[in-house]
Amino acid sequence: MRQPLPYFLLFLLLSPPVYAMTTTDCFDCHSDESLVKTVGGSELSLHIDEEVYTSSIHGNLDCTDCHSELADVEEEHEEELENTTCSDCHADVEEQWLKSVHAPGNAMVDYDLPGCPDCHGKHDILSGDDVRSRIFKLNIPATCGECHASKEITSRHPNLGSEVNSEYEEGIHGIVLFKSGMIFSAVCNDCHGSHSIFSASDERSSANRSRINDTCSSCHAGIVNVYINSIHGKHFAAGSEEAPTCASCHGTHRIDRAMDKGFLITVTERCSGCHKEKSDTFKNTYHGQVTGMGYSEAAQCPDCHGAHGILPKEDPASMINPNNLQATCGACHPGANSNFIKYLPHADYHDKENYPGLYYVYLAMVILLAGVFILFGIHTALWLIRAQIEERKKRG
Ligand code: HEC
Ligand code: HEC
Ligand code: HEC
Ligand code: HEC
Ligand code: HEC
Ligand code: HEC
Ligand code: HEC
Ligand code: HEC
Ligand code: HEC
Ligand code: HEC
Ligand code: HEC
Repeated sequence: MRQPLPYFLLFLLLSPPVYAMTTTDCFDCHSDESLVKTVGGSELSLHIDEEVYTSSIHGNLDCTDCHSELADVEEEHEEELENTTCSDCHADVEEQWLKSVHAPGNAMVDYDLPGCPDCHGKHDILSGDDVRSRIFKLNIPATCGECHASKEITSRHPNLGSEVNSEYEEGIHGIVLFKSGMIFSAVCNDCHGSHSIFSASDERSSANRSRINDTCSSCHAGIVNVYINSIHGKHFAAGSEEAPTCASCHGTHRIDRAMDKGFLITVTERCSGCHKEKSDTFKNTYHGQVTGMGYSEAAQCPDCHGAHGILPKEDPASMINPNNLQATCGACHPGANSNFIKYLPHADYHDKENYPGLYYVYLAMVILLAGVFILFGIHTALWLIRAQIEERKKRG
């Protein structure tokens, strides 16, 4: 037997309320290219391009899925509409964004902040895989740069770093992205996240000092594996605030290619920033002197110590362990023998404990020099007195 009631309920459920506007109704008015509205003195087009809309990722949504306050409205609607939300369908994303530095309330300012449409668009939203999308890898620097490279905005918010985009473009990740077109390169959101963006000084940020190694590791895993066993990696893991991270030696936005001419000189300056004493003694050596003159062939810190696997002298695997020095120096001084490696790259004549030979030779030289000066001083003084006496005798 037929059951009319369930069929009726199903009909009610499936059929839209007869009075509500359909997407076709909206287009009746909004496909008009001349439909504009004046907001704060400037014109806002209210034209919605049907082709762009239907080919967007939301092309099969109804207008009222986003403009939900119009869901029950007949034919004409209010002039002023509330802000549109995306959270009905993307609640998880909105939740992340609401906690971020970009959300009103968390930011120190509440204007120029990006909401969903600033990074994604409104009616032309495309999947991140689509080359035309604002969030396609190649386009992300420009999407973020709309504010972070804008002189007008960054002059008002100096913490946004107006140089960020230009530095990024000059660095290896920017070159590889823009010139080689490699979408495996790092762009803004690889280091900062897309929705959970925080100031780098905030521990929740993936660019924070405590997390930056892991962030680089998502692409440079092999290097991080070496680093974690180095003296620097171990001190970092133990919570040292002084230990270097990937960013301490490489920088962040303008990262140079390791083979670039100036790179080792820059790194040597960065090592020196933390190892002041060893850097001073290095500068006094032959290698340091010629490096200081801009000659990049002579040994700099990483040539003798390595880069990611740096270990103290006592460690048998250390490049400066006495057993390995012949190989280390031999890379540039072919045939370096056990005599050659006695040369002290950090010789410090002030350091009696570590360089006693040098210290005492230096001390002896100082005593000798001082002795000579004192002796000659006395000699000259006596000679002067004597000359005076002779002179008086002559006159007298
Ligand atoms: C009868 C024509 C007409 C129809 C049908 C229509 N609109 Fe509009 N819409 C307008 C006009 C005119 C304006 C500009 C109002 C003004 O001057 O402020 C407007 C403005 C808007 C605005 C901007 C509001 C604001 O606060 O700035 C949105 C959003 C909008 N319409 C969405 C829709 C949607 C969605 C539909 C379908 C559910 C729809 N409209 C149907 C004529 C129409
Ligand atoms: C994926 C969500 C989404 C859908 C679907 C959608 N809109 Fe919008 N619409 C937005 C957002 C976001 C804004 C900007 C609101 C704001 O700035 O506060 C907007 C703004 C508008 C405006 C104001 C002009 C502008 O560009 O800011 C009009 C008119 C409008 N929509 C009409 C429509 C019509 C007509 C449809 C259906 C054909 C539609 N919208 C479908 C998200 C959507
Ligand atoms: C009625 C539900 C609904 C609303 C409202 C909605 N979306 Fe979507 N959105 C979807 C669906 C469904 C997809 C397609 C998912 C897929 O194909 O993987 C999608 C996809 C997307 C994508 C592409 C994701 C990707 O694969 O790269 C973005 C970006 C997006 N939406 C942003 C927004 C924004 C911004 C708003 C508000 C202006 C919004 N959405 C409103 C349902 C919605
Ligand atoms: C500061 C720019 C920015 C803002 C603001 C932003 N997004 Fe995104 N969004 C991105 C980027 C970049 C991606 C690409 C992520 C990727 O490729 O891994 C993305 C990806 C997405 C995706 C697809 C992948 C995913 O994580 O699910 C959706 C959906 C999405 N955004 C929705 C939204 C919604 C909704 C809002 C507002 C609450 C929003 N976005 C605000 C930049 C932004
Ligand atoms: C519509 C403009 C706009 C866009 C687009 C935008 N931002 Fe922002 N961003 C801001 C503003 C404004 C702040 C400052 C918030 C505050 O006052 O703390 C900010 C803050 C930040 C900060 C924290 C800076 C600090 O140290 O305090 C980071 C990091 C950041 N944005 C990264 C991004 C990334 C990555 C993108 C692209 C995925 C992006 N932004 C897109 C406007 C924007
Ligand atoms: C390889 C990782 C990486 C990439 C790619 C990256 N950043 Fe950063 N960014 C960082 C780190 C790490 C910091 C913290 C810098 C510091 O403490 O000196 C930072 C700081 C910032 C700040 C805070 C202001 C400042 O100068 O300290 C902003 C804003 C910012 N980045 C935006 C961007 C934008 C926009 C892009 C894309 C054009 C981008 N970043 C690309 C790692 C990255
Ligand atoms: C103590 C300083 C220092 C730290 C910390 C450091 N690097 Fe390096 N990195 C270097 C030096 C020096 C080179 C150049 C090595 C060479 O020319 O042999 C280099 C080279 C590289 C290269 C190019 C490959 C190569 O060996 O030529 C990549 C990629 C790299 N580093 C990534 C990282 C990542 C990721 C981290 C974080 C785990 C990191 N670095 C930490 C100093 C450092
Ligand atoms: C999304 C992946 C990704 C992330 C995250 C990333 N990189 Fe890279 N990086 C690349 C790619 C791809 C290249 C280019 C490789 C090439 O062409 O030699 C590169 C190149 C480099 C180089 C130059 C290598 C060379 O051959 O001289 C250094 C140094 C470097 N990255 C350091 C870092 C540091 C430090 C971080 C974290 C702050 C980081 N990268 C985060 C993908 C990434
Ligand atoms: C951000 C600061 C920082 C930077 C940059 C840095 N180091 Fe270190 N380094 C440390 C800390 C902290 C330790 C562990 C504590 C200690 O022994 O002084 C350490 C330990 C060492 C040791 C072992 C010393 C010992 O007595 O056990 C050597 C060798 C070394 N670093 C060489 C280098 C070289 C070479 C560079 C540049 C390629 C460099 N460091 C860059 C902070 C830094
Ligand atoms: C020509 C090779 C060479 C160069 C260049 C060099 N070092 Fe060394 N370094 C050594 C040797 C060999 C030792 C161990 C003997 C000693 O302490 O004099 C050493 C010792 C050290 C130590 C103490 C290690 C320990 O385990 O006690 C540190 C820290 C250090 N160097 C940092 C640096 C820094 C920073 C630079 C660059 C400013 C640098 N070195 C340049 C060869 C070099
Ligand atoms: C990256 C290459 C490099 C490494 C590694 C290196 N040197 Fe040198 N060294 C040079 C260059 C280049 C000169 C200048 C040579 C010249 O002008 O004849 C030089 C000069 C010297 C000189 C003075 C000039 C001479 O030839 O008598 C001594 C001594 C010396 N190095 C010792 C060492 C010792 C010991 C080590 C290992 C602890 C070492 N070097 C590691 C490149 C290197």
